[in-house]
Amino acid sequence: MLIAQITDLHLSASNNEMAKANEARFDLVAEVLNNFSVQPDLTLVTGDLVENGTLESYELLFRKLAILPGEVHLGLGNHDRRAPFRKVFGARGFNDGFLQYAIKAPGLIILMLDTLEEGLHGGAFDAQRAAWLSNQLAAADRPVLIALHHPPIPTQIPWMTTKQDDPWVELLEDCIQSSDKVVGVISGHVHRHMHRAWAGTQVMVSAATAAQVALDMAPLDPDSADGRPLITEEPPAISLHHWDGTAITTHRVLAGQYNELAHFNPSMEQAMNEVFLVPKSDA
Ligand SMILES: [Fe+2]
Repeated sequence: MLIAQITDLHLSASNNEMAKANEARFDLVAEVLNNFSVQPDLTLVTGDLVENGTLESYELLFRKLAILPGEVHLGLGNHDRRAPFRKVFGARGFNDGFLQYAIKAPGLIILMLDTLEEGLHGGAFDAQRAAWLSNQLAAADRPVLIALHHPPIPTQIPWMTTKQDDPWVELLEDCIQSSDKVVGVISGHVHRHMHRAWAGTQVMVSAATAAQVALDMAPLDPDSADGRPLITEEPPAISLHHWDGTAITTHRVLAGQYNELAHFNPSMEQAMNEVFLVPKSDA
């Protein structure tokens, strides 16, 4: 089973340069997704769907999602707002007021979590959401992949990291560690690809559709602007998660224009046979 993940679209109905750039980046990502030789079974969009949570931005998102292939499932990030989202997309997937729901896929259950606390940049997860997750994990009849916006891991990027002793992180960690069914956690928020072992499983953070966060691990003094780059124009990206029934293989796909340097032409058949170690017929 092949799962595509895109995240941090930051689409906006505003008529400014950032809005135009983010829409163009979304179009590029959609084009790449539509042209994969093997189409994903579904696409997960893990939050920061829009930049400023306005109704008009969700209406734009609704129109833009129509160009993605196959079924698409949405999660919320810190830039999102539930009320305007529900006005455009409806109440489907909301449980106890949070956009948390299960997707039953072949051989895998995907649990989309809601780590949004409106007005807060960082993540949130409380007893109500944890109870829903624990119940879902207990009832799951197959392995589980968790999808959420905020990664519960340290990133080494001082202004985009998560403290491990934050109560929401400890609550989520308790839920996941007490289950042996979780095969991975996928997230967005950091606008960079990264992986880390956590809570007995692996966390895979996907780079953004919108602009990326610059990688700088140097200590940061919030009262001393040192001119470091914060946001960069690295290409937008997609994560492809392949589930083979035992584990997830994650591929990072950069969306952009790249020259193809070799093709599988007839002159390559002998070399390809050697790669595959296919015995040659004596005939
Ligand atoms: Fe974001």
